[in-house]
Amino acid sequence: MSKSMVGSHAVWPHEDDPIFGLAKRAGEAKEKFGKEKVIDSTLGSLVDDDGNLICFDSVYDELKNLPNSEIAAYAQVAGQGDFLESVIEVLFKEYKPEGHIRAVATPGGTGAVRHGIWNYTEPGDTFIVGDWYWSPYQTMADEFERKLKIYPFFNEKGGYNVEAFKENFNSIIDSQKRVLTIFNTPANNPTGYSISDEEWDEILEIIKEKAKDKENKITILLDVAYIDYAGNDRRSFFKKFGNLPDNIFVMIAFSMSKGYTMYGMRSGAAIGISSNESIADEFYYSLSHANRSNWSNGVRGAMKVLTNLYRDKDKKAKYEAELESIRKLLVDRAKAFVDASKEVGLVTLPYRDGFFVTIPCENSKDVSEELIKDNLFAVPLKKGLRFAVCAVSKEKCAKSPALIKKALDKING
Ligand SMILES: Cc1ncc(COP(=O)(O)O)c(C=O)c1O
Repeated sequence: MSKSMVGSHAVWPHEDDPIFGLAKRAGEAKEKFGKEKVIDSTLGSLVDDDGNLICFDSVYDELKNLPNSEIAAYAQVAGQGDFLESVIEVLFKEYKPEGHIRAVATPGGTGAVRHGIWNYTEPGDTFIVGDWYWSPYQTMADEFERKLKIYPFFNEKGGYNVEAFKENFNSIIDSQKRVLTIFNTPANNPTGYSISDEEWDEILEIIKEKAKDKENKITILLDVAYIDYAGNDRRSFFKKFGNLPDNIFVMIAFSMSKGYTMYGMRSGAAIGISSNESIADEFYYSLSHANRSNWSNGVRGAMKVLTNLYRDKDKKAKYEAELESIRKLLVDRAKAFVDASKEVGLVTLPYRDGFFVTIPCENSKDVSEELIKDNLFAVPLKKGLRFAVCAVSKEKCAKSPALIKKALDKING
């Protein structure tokens, strides 16, 4: 008989998170060799050119000026009313879709993704995502006894693989009559790809076709954790989610981690859109119940920061200026990396926006170890190497592709 004390569903390998493990090694190298000698592209957090975490003054001045009671008090289970109203405006901007929209506060985008997977699938169900995906989707599938089916994200032309989506989506909906499909766009982690409006039209065509069968229940979960670093017009796809048949439910996982540099303050929201009011209400009460049972309520001070930065004209302007300057910094760094990759013949996945550029490759663990010899730390993924431009100066972004190409050639020949 097993000696485990935990329930059989909760026995997992004794492994620490590989990304945080690699970041620790990068930290040790910085101590040993000096931070200018180390390229630390491990964590998905914004770091300035001197290696310091970027923390928006507009955000932290606001937080620190809140009355203690506004930070200390419990929030409402679903989130503060003024936050829920503000977050909808902040998310959609001028692209708010038609329909009934509800929001529920969650601890980060993770909480919203969690609710999407748990609340919108049946036990044992399969949900689908493209094969370049954020690994906690798999962790959650395991934790919640769901299955994750992956399909090839890119086609041969380097665009979104609509055909592979269609095949997988159709086969799951035909067998389950219910499907949850996750899209992490714009500014996908790890590829930096953003699905275009034209690709969205094709995806929605496929989904609407299956929605003609009223027995089918389809949930689209949009994970937009990095949306604030994609240009504003990348929000235009939101308009497409209005007036859909009511057996297509759209849920958005919104995060304050990146857009407000509040990673550790654990705040975000789930936003639901339906053409049917009672389905929108069902979402609100279903997720409120899930909030109560998992973490009771969210971080009130973080909610207040978003509300105030949205509602006060001057604070809003200051916050938006800070965000825009960092967005531009990111664009410059990514361009330096992509241009240098072209120069040395290093193949990257098609980058559009966001924190990461990914190099598809085999033996990524060996390549990553080889790079550590040059004090370059990049995250090995199953099918590639993730380089976090968010964490590396432009100068080092320009230098890195040559080092990566050299390591790749050495390991893979
Ligand atoms: C793709 C993706 N989704 C969601 C999140 C959620 O982050 P948080 O829970 O901090 O909002 C992250 C953070 O790294 C992410 O990369």
